[in-house]
Formats: sequence, C-alpha cells, structure tokens
Amino acid sequence: MMVRAGLTISIVVVACFMAGCQSSQDGFSTATTVVGTLPDQSEVRLHTLRNSQGVEVGILSYGATIVSITVPDAKGSMDDVVLGFDSLAGYRGDNNPYFGSIVGRYGNRIAGGSFVLDGETYMLARNNGPNHLHGGLVGFDKVNWESMAASDGKRTSATFRYVSVDGEEGYPGTLRVTVVYTLTADNEVIVDYEATTDKATPVNLTQHSYFNLSGTGDILDHELALNASYFTPVDSTLIPTGELRSVFGTPFDFKTTARPIGERIRDNDPQLVIGGGYDHNFVLDGGGDSLALAASVYDPLSGRTMEVWTTEPGVQLYTGNFLDGVEGKNRQVYGPHGGFCLETQHYPDSPNQPAFPSTILRPDERYVSRTMFAFGVRHR
Ligand code: GLA
Repeated sequence: MMVRAGLTISIVVVACFMAGCQSSQDGFSTATTVVGTLPDQSEVRLHTLRNSQGVEVGILSYGATIVSITVPDAKGSMDDVVLGFDSLAGYRGDNNPYFGSIVGRYGNRIAGGSFVLDGETYMLARNNGPNHLHGGLVGFDKVNWESMAASDGKRTSATFRYVSVDGEEGYPGTLRVTVVYTLTADNEVIVDYEATTDKATPVNLTQHSYFNLSGTGDILDHELALNASYFTPVDSTLIPTGELRSVFGTPFDFKTTARPIGERIRDNDPQLVIGGGYDHNFVLDGGGDSLALAASVYDPLSGRTMEVWTTEPGVQLYTGNFLDGVEGKNRQVYGPHGGFCLETQHYPDSPNQPAFPSTILRPDERYVSRTMFAFGVRHR
C-alpha cells in the first residue's frame, strides 16, 4: 500500500493466462488454476491465497479442501503444516481420511444413522460401523464446490458455495451453504460458514485439517492446551453416552496446563483404549456465542504455534489414530498420530441427544459459524 499526501492508493494487478488467473493487491495475492476435471465435466480449481509475509494457503474446490498451509518456523523457514496428497486423485481416492475438507451436512457421528425430527424418522447411510459419519457416502468433502478468490488489500479470501438438495444423503431440506476462507496479514486463517434451509434439518459443519506443526514425523510432542473442563465420553462405537465428564484428574485434562499430546495418550483409560488415542468432543468453557479461544498448540521442534478460536460450543480432538500408512504428499507416509485435528463443532449425535445444544436449522434461521486458526512462533 502506498500512502501519499493523505491519500491511500491501492495497487491492484490482475493477470489471466491459459493456466488460470492471478491478482495481487498490497502484498496479498490470489492465484487460481484448474487442476482437473471430474466425470461430470466440472473443473476442479485450486485457489492459492498469499499474504505479504509469504504465508500461503491452498484450497481445492473439491471438498472446499485445504491442501496446504505454509507458515514460518521460529527461524523463518517455511513449511507446509497440514497433511494431504500431491494430486486430486489422492483426494478423490478411498484412502482419503477427510484430509483438509469441509465435512457436512453433519460433521461427526449420528447414532444408528437415524434421527427423529418433528415426529418424522430420517434414515441416513451407516458408513462408520453402525453409525453415520461426516455426512454420509457423498458428504460435502466429496463434492465440487462453486468457488472464487479475491483480495481487498487487508486480506485475501476464497469463497465456496454448495447447494445440497432436499433428500441428499437422506437429510431433509435444500441447504445452501457458503464457506469463506480468509488469510489475514497476521497469519490467521479464518473459516466463515453460513447456511440456510427450506425445511428443518440438522447442520454441523466443520473443517477437517490434520495439522503437524513440524511438517513431518508425529505430533506426540506437540503441547496442547484446551479451554475445556468437560468432555463427552463415548461408547465403543464413538457415540457420546450423554454424560459430560470432568477432565480433571484424567488424561483429558488439557485445561489445567498445556501438555504434550503424547504424555498420556497410551494410558490404560478405557476412553483412550476405544479409539486408540483421543477421538473425543471437548465441551468448550463458555463456548458457543462469541469467538473464543478453544485451543493452543506449541511445537517445541519448530517453535510454531497455532491457536484455534471458535464460535462453536465444542471441538473434536482427533489424534490421527486411524492413520495407517497413508501415502501423502512429498513422499510422506502418514502413520498413527502423524497429524491431529481440532474440529470445531456441535457435539456428536446431537440430533438424538436432547440435552446437547441443538443442531437443528429451521427455514426462518441462518446458520452462522466462525473458526480461526492463528499461526505464530514462540522463541524459547
Ligand atoms: C473424525 C472422527 C474419527 C475418524 C476421522 C476420519 O475426526 O472422529 O473417528 O473417523 O474423522 O478418519
């Protein structure tokens, strides 16, 4: 940005070539390229957002998927801190454990793949043992979203839209969803969700990035603090029992002090044995209205930090327990705990658990939710 005699002049440059378009403004830039075509002939686009600090976020229109977040470490070296694949084929393959995507219409599990709403029973796919997971067989992670990217001099963002028709995956109502990813000058990645419906329906949208702030290896030494005094214990199929259990005096206590994720992950606590590590919803203290700090993560190896802020009442800590040698980008093979997810959300199985905050969106309402991943460094 140039400032002259009290006037602010923004420099905007837009260029389009065969491969796509690029625009830049005041140190922010966006680039869009076409990376493939789906069987329905729709083009899959990759939007790259960049700020003046050289931080870059790559997002695919397929699944509105974050494919890369490149941020500096304490010495200034840049690394990609999310797990993913090198190609669109990887994201479309059967081995993709929701890397970086938006999940919906209902992120997380619905017991028995069914729920009753306003006296009517709805049947959904049972795609996770006896339960419904992450929106079903073709959830929002497996559709090609309409998309565009733009910068305005203070931030750069990419907007994704998808219309999920009435009855899709068994859910009632046509749901119109918008997700906007914004990269700020301060290395924050903000995810804004909005949705409206024409019939009452459950909605629970989340972002399923797997983070590894070292960019390689496992995440067991990453130190985690969670602003949660309670979590929702689960049955053997990872459905909440309905209890809100205090974290204090248990391996789920990331509230009293930050601790390495791996410190107690192998404790003989039945809740940890069920899923081979953490795969639980934490009840955020005072969460659910304004943007509040949910989690802070520090990686002693790289010095990178990440804070997660959200308007949601819960966050699923998933420590990549089921990663079983997934062949990912840059010839990396992701094993158990190769990454962690902090999926901001309403609690799992809420449509069947009246005591949990409601996830039902009605035609006269607007679903609005915001989550922010803020990256930084800590010098010892
Ligand atoms: C979520 C679930 C996990 C697992 C992953 C995807 O985070 O809670 O149990 O299904 O998604 O592998």
